[in-house]
Amino acid sequence: MFQNILYETDGPTAVLTVSRPDKMNAVDNATVEELDQALAAVEKDPNVRVLILTGAGDKAFVAGADIKELNRRDLISGRAETRRRQEVYTRIEQLEIPSIAAVKGWALGTGLELAMACTLRLAAEGAKLGQPEVKLGIIPGAGGTQRLPRLVGMGRAMEMVLTGEPVDAVRAYEMGLVNRVVPAESLLDEAKKLAAVLASRPKLAVQYGKEAVLRFAEGSLAEGLAHESYLHALSCGSEDKREGVAAFLEKRKPNFTGK
Ligand code: COA
Repeated sequence: MFQNILYETDGPTAVLTVSRPDKMNAVDNATVEELDQALAAVEKDPNVRVLILTGAGDKAFVAGADIKELNRRDLISGRAETRRRQEVYTRIEQLEIPSIAAVKGWALGTGLELAMACTLRLAAEGAKLGQPEVKLGIIPGAGGTQRLPRLVGMGRAMEMVLTGEPVDAVRAYEMGLVNRVVPAESLLDEAKKLAAVLASRPKLAVQYGKEAVLRFAEGSLAEGLAHESYLHALSCGSEDKREGVAAFLEKRKPNFTGK
């Protein structure tokens, strides 16, 4: 059904793989539309609790936008195409379920932007992440100038956007750009293990916790606190809250149902 991505589910985990190996998994406009369709499938499937996003092969997560296509981009299409990417990547960010980017090899340009739209990021040893657009005479257009400073701070983001130089996995970890660095051969296993932990937690608490932390990036402390309190109250109305607290008090394992 898809040409440029693979979409499969394994229990509560969905794995979305960008697969254009002869182009280092560069994301063209058609791939963006396929990602959007796969996200619709994720949203519709109540069994999927975590999304893993990765790239096919060992060389790249995603080595950027498709530069052949970029060659044709002009003033008008530049605006339309970047807005569309921003919309689809924001759809990933705003999913009710958490997402994990599993990054091996190059994550450049739109690749890093895609990874930054995910809730968490795992990097394989040797991975390289960067916003090289400046070297092509352009600037990032799928969230790079906005999500990067939110993750690593303005100074570090400035350096990456203005020099275009990538950072390696260890530096990315030190900067807070990735959550963990793992051996390349176990990247997907580690992502699946982390997904299993997330899937084992009460569904609504994970959903509300994610929504509350995302608010941090958007508004004032007062607004964030008000929203946190509202979502906390919602979580207090869940069956899993009653079960979680009762299990602790009764010294037994909780049996969460996702309600
Ligand atoms: N768009 C389209 N094709 C791409 C691509 C991209 N972003 N990145 C790599 N490719 C293609 C190359 O053109 C090459 O195709 P070919 O074999 O038909 O010539 C193939 O993928 C392999 O890439 P190559 O450059 O030979 O591999 P490498 O190991 O020497 O270098 C990179 C890997 C990722 C460092 C290098 O390909 C690169 O710099 N890519 C562009 C990154 C970029 O600027 N992205 C931001 C775009 S906005």
